Amino acid sequence: MTEQIAVSLGDRSYSVHVGRGLLGHAASLLAPFARRTVYVVTDRNVAAVHLKRLTSVLHDGGIEVRSAILDPGEGAKSFQGLERLTDLLLESGLERDSLIVAFGGGVIGDLAGFAAGVLKRGIAYAQIPTTLLAQVDSSVGGKTAINTRHGKNLVGLFHQPKIVIADTELLATLPRRELIAGYAEIAKYGALGDPDFFAWLESQEATLSAGEPAALVRAVAHSCRVKAGIVSHDEREAGDRALLNLGHTFGHALEAATLFSDRLLHGEAVAIGMALAFRLSALLGLSPAAATERLERHLRAMSLPVRISDIPGPRPDSDTLLFHMLHDKKSRDGHAVFVLVRGIGQAFVTEDVSIEAVRAVLAG
Ligand code: NAD
Ligand code: GLY
Repeated sequence: MTEQIAVSLGDRSYSVHVGRGLLGHAASLLAPFARRTVYVVTDRNVAAVHLKRLTSVLHDGGIEVRSAILDPGEGAKSFQGLERLTDLLLESGLERDSLIVAFGGGVIGDLAGFAAGVLKRGIAYAQIPTTLLAQVDSSVGGKTAINTRHGKNLVGLFHQPKIVIADTELLATLPRRELIAGYAEIAKYGALGDPDFFAWLESQEATLSAGEPAALVRAVAHSCRVKAGIVSHDEREAGDRALLNLGHTFGHALEAATLFSDRLLHGEAVAIGMALAFRLSALLGLSPAAATERLERHLRAMSLPVRISDIPGPRPDSDTLLFHMLHDKKSRDGHAVFVLVRGIGQAFVTEDVSIEAVRAVLAG
């Protein structure tokens, strides 16, 4: 029950391996890229449950581990976090041809990938993602970044990993809320361009909610296949890669308005953002109302929020949300960029949306 997906980028091509129990094969999978010692970057939560196993698997395969264990949380994706990590890695003997292994969620993947991109002018790294979001999204495609006081992911670079190893068994220790939030990104792949996948996801609500292993592997692998296909022909987001931002213009505004707090996880914001993008598309006469209903029903069945009113605490006001949308790093010349739809699986990118229509959707 292992799937292998190719990201085809010439001499920067790599494979994404998805399956149960792949951590047990980490030594042979990493061996082509590793010297005697690898440098594992992880956070305390992941280290507590999975680092011992990774270390012993690699040791048994003749690879020694030096590990940098960071505080969990978005705060690690900062200039201070980067300085701390690069100091730790350099102090522990990292060399130009060493391999860094990002072992964690999207925070660790983005930070360790960025550190790999700038240390010694660029060294190799591997991704072993441990959250569902990281397995289906952030570990694939080579976007790395840290945050600045001006916003999220504003300092970063494209630096592709040598390999991605997504072991779905690692998700067993993930808090349920994180697992469900990550599922929003899986639904996104169906909603943006793959109606058959969306229909399959609808048919698997019970198995996926229960974390049934075979369904999970299939959903993760198919998501990686969709992302790999898009990244392979648009690495730098000159075109289709922007479709991956379905739900993100609204979603980022909601995250910013709730101060990136645990009132709203990223995946939860994307779920509400997708529902709003479908509602906006319907309001503009581009997509049938039935498509919105279908999307919202499925997200709700997967225990995801779909309305702004589903966010606990005070409702973010529309002016604040509009401000964040117009100042999003993806906005162009003061125009917010939206991914809209013509139905399930038919997304497209546009800047041509009236503020009045956006206001109407935000008020709904
Ligand atoms: P995260 O990395 O903060 O992980 C969420 C929480 O789960 C953390 O507390 C972590 O310690 C814990 N955790 C991770 N794996 C675990 C496991 N197996 N068992 C128990 N606990 C575990 O959050 P995330 O949602 O994975 O990633 C969010 C980040 O990803 C954001 O910074 C976002 O900007 C970034 N991101 C990047 C891309 C990209 O393309 N590079 C795409 C989407 C999101
Ligand atoms: N998560 C969006 C992208 O990788 O382009």
